[in-house]
Amino acid sequence: MSADAAAKAKAKAEPSPDTVTVKDSASGKAFDLPLHHGTLGPSVIDIRKLYTDTGMFTYDPAFMSTASCESKITYIDGEQGILLYRGYPIEELAEKSTFLEVAYLLLNGELPKPAELSDFTTKITRHTMLHEQLARLYQGFRRDAHPMAVMVGVVGAMSAFYSDETHGQDPEQRIGAAHRIIAKVPTIAAMAYKYSIGQPFVYPRNDLTFAENFLHMMFSVPAEEYRVNPLLARAIDDIFILHADHEQNASTSTVRLAGSSGANPFACIAAGIACLWGPAHGGANEAVINMLKEIGDKSRIPEFIKRAKDKDDPFRLMGFGHRVYKNFDPRAAVLRRHAHDVLHELGIEHEPLLELALELERIALEDPYFVERRLYPNVDFYSGIILRAMGFPPSLFTVIFAVARTVGWCAQWVEMISDPSQKIGRPRQLYTGSPKRPYVPLARR
Ligand code: SDX
Repeated sequence: MSADAAAKAKAKAEPSPDTVTVKDSASGKAFDLPLHHGTLGPSVIDIRKLYTDTGMFTYDPAFMSTASCESKITYIDGEQGILLYRGYPIEELAEKSTFLEVAYLLLNGELPKPAELSDFTTKITRHTMLHEQLARLYQGFRRDAHPMAVMVGVVGAMSAFYSDETHGQDPEQRIGAAHRIIAKVPTIAAMAYKYSIGQPFVYPRNDLTFAENFLHMMFSVPAEEYRVNPLLARAIDDIFILHADHEQNASTSTVRLAGSSGANPFACIAAGIACLWGPAHGGANEAVINMLKEIGDKSRIPEFIKRAKDKDDPFRLMGFGHRVYKNFDPRAAVLRRHAHDVLHELGIEHEPLLELALELERIALEDPYFVERRLYPNVDFYSGIILRAMGFPPSLFTVIFAVARTVGWCAQWVEMISDPSQKIGRPRQLYTGSPKRPYVPLARR
């Protein structure tokens, strides 16, 4: 045997560390699938040619084992409870950074130099006002409309006002659209709140920081001067940082899929807001408060723990469990500490809901059902307690989540749309419906 043939035979015998072999037991055929290795985390099996090679699809309805894209933005290790934004640990960013600096980092990949941060801050600040005709859109909603319904409608309507950025094919247009969306979503959110309580809209102020401006637009009234509490500004800025991005979660995947068709960025972000609203996702923070209010007293915790374990009862312990984190959600750990600090600063450290939440967490984390399934408190478990103490109504909690996640959605959209190999996302299916059959006329049915 020639040396070349021997080398090929040896390579065949010792599978390459960069392939996985799939064998079809029916035909006996074997298929080598390429393996790709990331900087961190699981390697991936490249199945892009699987259908053409085998005539078969993979099957993963909730994407439990599927990587939908390559990304450099956020890394999560669910086993270790690690969350990195462009490589920086979330705990350090929450302690040392600001939301706008984190927004720059997520969008651009590096922490900004002073001049870059100043320029970025000016760009965002200068886009915080809303077109006056967009403001009129609010009049079409009932006053008791859920603010998330208003957010979906008004953010989507932005695509009717900024046609110069509706395609995103041009790098300048892309980043311009991202800046506009990041800047205006807080204004839209605050206006949704003001509209729901019948108070006049408050215009943004360019002399305030992003967090201060949000509190100003939310809580100031024309009748008196409003002073931003620096502790609350710091707390909301941290909450924005903690919620800014989270890899390929349901709403981010929605934004990417919508964007893959070339839909304009405003419509894509509106689709992300719609998906985030669900109680299994970003709507959980509002559901946690409603659950704690329903439990009402520590004595009733066992009753609700029992319900959460009952397969015949749709009730789940809101704010517990996570598709990726099988350990403490690192964001929940930061928020848990913040909850104490904020409530203490506000002089309500004996907030009954916080004490109820801590007791619920203690009991759940000792219960074999939760321990065996590695169900820990997630980001939504504590955020609502802090937001409620700060004066936000529960209906605003997911809106605040959306304000923060808009940065992550924009960063992920820019990354996706900038990829020259980007194609429209179009999953297939396992068809279990009726085989072909002839039409039956009405008279013969
Ligand atoms: C967010 O993906 C992200 O990154 C999301 C997010 C982000 O930043 O974008 O982190 C934000 O959405 C946080 C999650 C907020 N949702 C909630 O708090 C709602 C309550 N949690 C559950 O609905 C649930 O835990 C999910 C939806 C979060 C995760 O569900 P999975 O991964 O599909 O897990 P599963 O439903 O398969 O549960 C596994 C088992 C099941 O029991 P068995 O069938 O094995 O017996 O755990 C049970 C579930 O019944 N279970 C729960 C539970 N969560 C899971 N049982 C009681 N209470 C719960 N909360």
